Amino acid sequence: MHLQPPEGAAADWTVPQNWAHYTPEDHAVWDTLFARQAKLLPGRASEAYLRGLDVLRLSKPGIPDFKELSDRLMKLTGWQVVAVPGLVPDDVFFEHMANRRFVAGNFIRRRDQLDYLQEPDVFHDVFGHVPMLADPRFAEYLVAYGQGGLRANGMDALKYLARLYWYTVEFGLVAEPEGLRIYGAGIVSSFAESRFALEDASPNRIGFDLERVMRSAYRIDDFQQTYFVIPSFDELLRVTVETDFAPLYEAIRGQADIAVGEIVPGDTVLTLGTQDYARGKVPA
Ligand SMILES: [Fe+2]
Repeated sequence: MHLQPPEGAAADWTVPQNWAHYTPEDHAVWDTLFARQAKLLPGRASEAYLRGLDVLRLSKPGIPDFKELSDRLMKLTGWQVVAVPGLVPDDVFFEHMANRRFVAGNFIRRRDQLDYLQEPDVFHDVFGHVPMLADPRFAEYLVAYGQGGLRANGMDALKYLARLYWYTVEFGLVAEPEGLRIYGAGIVSSFAESRFALEDASPNRIGFDLERVMRSAYRIDDFQQTYFVIPSFDELLRVTVETDFAPLYEAIRGQADIAVGEIVPGDTVLTLGTQDYARGKVPA
């Protein structure tokens, strides 16, 4: 990880989105991905996410112009979307988040990579994350997360906070009156995982518990083996704002990590997964 921003980036690591430089093919890839997910998500994505999706329907098709997108988002929740050249250092990420700036990659995947991504592109970052930023409760949750990150940086606790982000912002499920729904950006931006997370018998689905989540390892290379289910966005925000994290980090530090896919005493197991998918991946 660089400690200095790369050439051409500002001191806060942002770069101009340079919307005019996208090719017609770049915009066509966005439109293909957008249409495919927009068709799949009703009945699967949370109500908050589906409501927020409208914020992406801008004056022209294709990859959103961050300026126009930010103007709309600003009116709803005070957030903006800023472009960065790739992954940024933790403190830079948290500083932007605490100040209601969501950092997004400005490149888009190629058409032969619709389902495969090594690092987050503009489709993951904008289609996946921005609709939830239009929800007032989730928007506040992310501000609280950014502030918590700035504090955790000095407490050697980023590992625990990263797990909270992973299991909520990226791969979270929510229990709605009509049933389980997806809201994590890593799920809603993925054609295959949108169905796997909700409908497959393989993964565990466990009630959200802050300490449990922060003790839980995760896998970055494949579908999750466990998803955590929040009861509501109000509750996620409440727990995050009301918890004193410093003693919690101390308590976690004295305990072993919980392995990927493991169930532990105290878990509220909504679905005990078969883990067949994960097992099938292990060479015989
Ligand atoms: Fe993400």
